Amino acid sequence: MKKFADRLIQWGIKEGRTGLPWKDKLNGNYDPYKIWVSEMMLQQTRVASVLPKFNQFIRRFPDLEKLANSTLEDVIQVWAGLGYYRRARNLHEGAKIIVSERGKIFPKNAAEWSTIPGIGMSTSAAISSFVNGEKVALLDANVYRILCRRYCLDLTNSRAKEKEQLMKLATNLLPKKKSEMAQYSQYIMDLGATVCKSTQPTCSKCPVSEDCESFNSAAVHLYPKKVKLTRREKQITWVLTMDRDIILLERQNKKELWKSLLVPATEIKMRENYRLPRKNFLRSYRVKVSNCDLTVKVWKRNCVFDMLKITTRHKVVHKTMISKVPVPRLLEKVLKDFDF
Ligand code: ADE
Repeated sequence: MKKFADRLIQWGIKEGRTGLPWKDKLNGNYDPYKIWVSEMMLQQTRVASVLPKFNQFIRRFPDLEKLANSTLEDVIQVWAGLGYYRRARNLHEGAKIIVSERGKIFPKNAAEWSTIPGIGMSTSAAISSFVNGEKVALLDANVYRILCRRYCLDLTNSRAKEKEQLMKLATNLLPKKKSEMAQYSQYIMDLGATVCKSTQPTCSKCPVSEDCESFNSAAVHLYPKKVKLTRREKQITWVLTMDRDIILLERQNKKELWKSLLVPATEIKMRENYRLPRKNFLRSYRVKVSNCDLTVKVWKRNCVFDMLKITTRHKVVHKTMISKVPVPRLLEKVLKDFDF
């Protein structure tokens, strides 16, 4: 039987992802700048959503220096819509570091790549295998799933010892030749995303099922072992304080759910001797947020804002602008449900 890497690459040439704009070659090499930008975008976002944003980003910041010399606001603005804005901050910070401290030379191996902000073990391995042909195993969620199924691994979390064991297994599967590393890394991610999927894997289409232990024992569905999330029940109350079409919000406390989003203001004080107007109950909502099963009891209070003590904690937002500010989806839903 052919080696794992050979079968994977043969499969990838026919079935793997092609036409990715960050994989355009110049003189036979990948552009490290484009690979770096794309891998940062792909950290939490699917290929299909990254594609249009990547092209827009490269048009606006075509090379390392253009990115380093731009303002963070400009970078964030182009990033808008991809979410997880820390990635944009890290890219900008990384560009400045490579330009001002590293003589505009990109890192030469995975260990060096992981000193750039926002680049962990898996991203550094992916980038370095693409641009340096380094023989280093990437261990993202796709590869983790493939390994657990291939070797019937009963792992349940990512303790250091388990990582070590997984790294050894992943490293043993790598191709012999450096020149095959870029294909190998891409195709193992493609295999995980399109065949060895977390639900309904299509083992009949898998190029490496022949020696997959869980496939051979009809136990694919048992791997990776599911970790039971312990969900917590929680109840909270929202009082929507509104002056006709305007709603009073405040930045959520860092220790609470929806931290750093804007939520209906809870700390409300009246000016002078005005009395807080009565609130009316609207309805309860059940939602899942993080690991909580949440009941949100929603009330509404009509109030003329001139009578309120509005502080710097507060933000006053017109209901038609609610989708333009960072609020929980639930708040958008409530406003829509009640046609406020
Ligand atoms: N996820 C992270 N990197 C990726 C890549 N290069 N292709 C597809 N999915 C990815």
